[in-house]
Amino acid sequence: MNETIISSLNAAIEGKSETESLAILADLFPGEVVFSTSLGYEDQVITDFILKNNLNVTIFTLDTGRLFSETYMTLQKTNNRYDTKIKVYYPQTDSVETLVSTKGPLSFYDSVENRKECCFIRKVEPLNRALKGAKIWVTGIRAEQSGNRHDMPQLEWDVAHQLVKFHPILHWSFEDVKTFVKSNGLPYNPLHDKGFVSIGCAPCTRAIQEGEDFRAGRWWWEDESKKECGLHAK
Ligand code: ADX
Ligand code: SF4
Repeated sequence: MNETIISSLNAAIEGKSETESLAILADLFPGEVVFSTSLGYEDQVITDFILKNNLNVTIFTLDTGRLFSETYMTLQKTNNRYDTKIKVYYPQTDSVETLVSTKGPLSFYDSVENRKECCFIRKVEPLNRALKGAKIWVTGIRAEQSGNRHDMPQLEWDVAHQLVKFHPILHWSFEDVKTFVKSNGLPYNPLHDKGFVSIGCAPCTRAIQEGEDFRAGRWWWEDESKKECGLHAK
């Protein structure tokens, strides 16, 4: 059944541009297509596709409460540019209060378990609320970002959320993304100019050196194999 949906959607978008594909999906599922943005380079490209073309796709971001101030600036600039207000989801107050009061503000450095607990409270639970009622979840994932993402299909069935995920710029290179952002004068997170590639929460993200893996600056103190936060868990 789900395979049938994926193959018919694949047929519907075959040979179409990213914007055309988004428009087709938005027409097929009116009011049920959502896009999650972290305000990073990749996501700014997709936001531009959506807002420049007035596509019927709801854009949201997850504010973990631990983002860089540059990320908030980017959110404001994006709202200004498109005269919009991107929807923002926050973690549950009680959960954050209990976490920080019982384990302190930096518990995520102590163990993978603690880190996943914090990611669950600050990202995964709010994401689950944001995805309620959605049929298509659009992301800015690119294949070259990690081994896990390398073989991802552009359209896939998400078992955890029981919906279709669509990654319109899956096969773009980092250079493609950067060129699009710069040549269209899109607002972007200024941390990208300081060696930050993938930008998440401030205490868990650092700049990378040339030649390092794209995700080397995320949860750098952990094993490679554990470095997904649960947003895109299988
Ligand atoms: S993560 O899994 O490490 O957190 P990553 O930063 O690679 O994610 O981003 C991949 C995609 O996940 C983004 O293109 C975006 O769709 C989504 N995403 C990541 N962080 C957020 C966030 N804070 N709010 C909304 N979406 C996000
Ligand atoms: Fe918590 Fe770090 Fe995960 Fe952000 S990335 S939710 S601060 S553990």
